[in-house]
Amino acid sequence: MNVVMIGSGYVGLVSGACFSEFGANVICVDKDESKINALLNGEIPIYEPGLDDLVSRNVKESRLSFSLDLKEAVAEADLVFIAVGTPTRRGDGHADLKYVYAAAEEIAGYLTGYTVIVDKSTVPVGTAREVCRIIKKANPAAEFDVASNPEFLREGSAIGDFMRPDRVVLGVESERAEALLRELYRPLNLIEAPIHVTNLESAELIKYASNAFLATKISFINEMSQLCEKVGADVHSVAKGMGLDGRIGKKFLHAGPGYGGSCFPKDTLALIRIAQEHGVSSRIVESVVEVNASQKARMVSKIREALGGSESDKVIAVLGLTFKPETDDMRDSPSLAILPAMADKGAIIKAHDPEGVKEARKLLPESIQYMDNIEDAIKGADAIVLMTEWNQYRGLDLDRVKSLMKGNVFVDLRNVYERSMMESHGFIYTCVGR
Ligand code: UGA
Repeated sequence: MNVVMIGSGYVGLVSGACFSEFGANVICVDKDESKINALLNGEIPIYEPGLDDLVSRNVKESRLSFSLDLKEAVAEADLVFIAVGTPTRRGDGHADLKYVYAAAEEIAGYLTGYTVIVDKSTVPVGTAREVCRIIKKANPAAEFDVASNPEFLREGSAIGDFMRPDRVVLGVESERAEALLRELYRPLNLIEAPIHVTNLESAELIKYASNAFLATKISFINEMSQLCEKVGADVHSVAKGMGLDGRIGKKFLHAGPGYGGSCFPKDTLALIRIAQEHGVSSRIVESVVEVNASQKARMVSKIREALGGSESDKVIAVLGLTFKPETDDMRDSPSLAILPAMADKGAIIKAHDPEGVKEARKLLPESIQYMDNIEDAIKGADAIVLMTEWNQYRGLDLDRVKSLMKGNVFVDLRNVYERSMMESHGFIYTCVGR
């Protein structure tokens, strides 16, 4: 089976490599010459655990290749996936579909024989139908179907998520397209991964509704964390007690500095816009977005309070910058809201992150200093703020940390540590909702 993946960004590259691992012949096509050249040289442009091995193995076995030539790739393809970016459009919160539609238009001219065009990018309801219209208009003779196959990968564990998915969602309009897609995903039959077949619109909405629901769980527990602080409850224990109810489930109930990343912030806004366009209210999702913004702001006050009311001239060691561990992705990371607010008030910030510094430098104020190792960040600090729960920060040698610091304030925005242990090591410990 010949598969073309248009867009070698995060989703395209991971999905392309995983399909080749399933046994398909995959060509990943991108317009970005430097990206394709890097991939041809064996360089992986993003940090994702296991991706380099997966790519090099499948390239070696000639199932995976990279190309700038869309025409040649599409001519031979059974399935063409569109996995280009759909960033939030400036100003209005809509997903920007210009790359998706440009890809559709371009593919149209190159189709030979029956081909299924599959939307993999997260796209508003109605996009697959529009892709279909664009291709039909550009090439009325083309023999094709359009399908929607949203992805549910988490950064940092994308390969595992792809290989052992909770479900595969296929939005299709013909048996022929369904059969081809089922064939592509056949290796997952071994682990009995559920394949949920539905129509185009439902598949598109499943993706947004899933992300918005997960974001809702996070905002819900973050709101509870504030109440926990006031009434003397422990948000960990509350989340555990709730999550033991199978109807609620224990996942995505970790209180923290607010969700970030390339998906939840963008997709919640897009869902609100989609609902507005159809004259439907989305009060729950609107509140989720609002609670998330206020949670980030609340973290700034929390740090200030821990520092005795002012961060001015205080040396703050920030551990972790990315929106979650095991990624170099800084998009909408809580650190992008929290660090500038502290820097504005005169804090001297020394930051460490295992993978995110290159991106962080582009996005954070110039005054932030980046340290190559944890000890350099901590040395002489009045306070430590644990921002992202990288493994390196989970097992800190607390006596050593304390001896390197000037002060003893430890603000744990991910609830990694236990208060009693921190206090016994002489820290003034603050966390979220406990
Ligand atoms: C998310 C979804 O989990 C994936 O299923 C989906 O495919 C992906 O978006 C996408 O649309 O492409 P991702 O953004 O990589 O994946 O990361 P998550 O693990 O979902 O975390 C998102 C944010 O929520 C992070 O900032 C994380 O720290 C935060 N979070 C997560 C919490 O604050 N608490 C939790 O309990 C869980």
